[in-house]
Amino acid sequence: MIAHDPIERSLVASQNGWSVHVLDQRQLPWRVERIELTSAAMAAQAIREMWVRGAPLIGATAAYGLCLALREDPSDASLERNRALLLAARPTAVNLRWALERVHASAQPHAGAARVAAAYRCASAICDEDVRSNRAIGQHGLDLIRCAVKPGRTVNVLTHCNAGALATVDLGTALAPIYRAHELGIPVHVWVDETRPRNQGALLTAYELGRAGVAHTVIVDNAGGHLMQRGEVDLCLVGADRVTRNGDVCNKIGTYLKALAARDNEVPFYVAFPFSTFDGSLASGNEITIEERDPQEVTSISGPTPMGELATVMLTRSRGANPAFDITPARLISAYVTERGVIREAANLAIRGGEPARADPCYQRD
Ligand code: MRU
Repeated sequence: MIAHDPIERSLVASQNGWSVHVLDQRQLPWRVERIELTSAAMAAQAIREMWVRGAPLIGATAAYGLCLALREDPSDASLERNRALLLAARPTAVNLRWALERVHASAQPHAGAARVAAAYRCASAICDEDVRSNRAIGQHGLDLIRCAVKPGRTVNVLTHCNAGALATVDLGTALAPIYRAHELGIPVHVWVDETRPRNQGALLTAYELGRAGVAHTVIVDNAGGHLMQRGEVDLCLVGADRVTRNGDVCNKIGTYLKALAARDNEVPFYVAFPFSTFDGSLASGNEITIEERDPQEVTSISGPTPMGELATVMLTRSRGANPAFDITPARLISAYVTERGVIREAANLAIRGGEPARADPCYQRD
């Protein structure tokens, strides 16, 4: 991970195109295992059951899922059926629809082997662009971290969920500026929200920050406000699953409360995402479908036993509810960190999002 070598990416297509290898995120950090996805049905299952997760990685996995389907059967019926199958895997992150639309638009005008080749070219471009976008986000976000540097002091960043290399093809969105700052020797420390119920912070963000040698501390989700009151957070930096035309941000449940605490304590609250996460078709966050996941994710918790087996134990016998995302209103966001630069005015998102690059299904930057 966090390498420029494509072999180390979160998702790697096999040489012959018959399969795609992804890291099984259900097992991290206890076991590092790759799973081979060989069909669209398997790619949909991987997304639905969160073997892979994170908006950009969900999109990339779906893109290759559609390629795998076309390789089996490149007919129009297969293209439409498998696009629908993959689109239904998870509702909230818009990257899923964005990636499927791109592959569909690339493949649709062709037939047979040419259709398959066009789909694979597009999926590969989506992955390469994701890495390039994240590198640009890292560079733009670095300027915000630099603004927070005070002589002789470490910059304390609070993040929520996992918006790192594991949630993308590589490098991450919210973590990219942190990796860049660390590379440049800027002293940075990350407060990592554990991010109940699935603990993407404690399990995934902490894992990848640790591998990169970035100083970090895992905190319970309720600690952030207290740390902000005590002046121990210089800035918040989180990812996004969908950003609407008015600048509302949908991200992992609990993000909104951090933004409220940040506003109350005059801590800047930044959201990092590529434009593949921008949904100009929705006017506001109220229109986003919030995924309701299995309440068992709330009423139980998993981890290794002393014998090293992964086990699940109950936390309560009561009923649970599990809304997986929330909406942070634009008014609480200090700036959006995108591959096209830092955007401070929500109104400018739609202008930047409408740049011609988005219209071309297989546009490649650089
Ligand atoms: O349910 P998840 O783990 O897929 O949710 C992921 C998040 O909310 C991330 O913060 C978001 O996708 C940004 S990923 C770069």
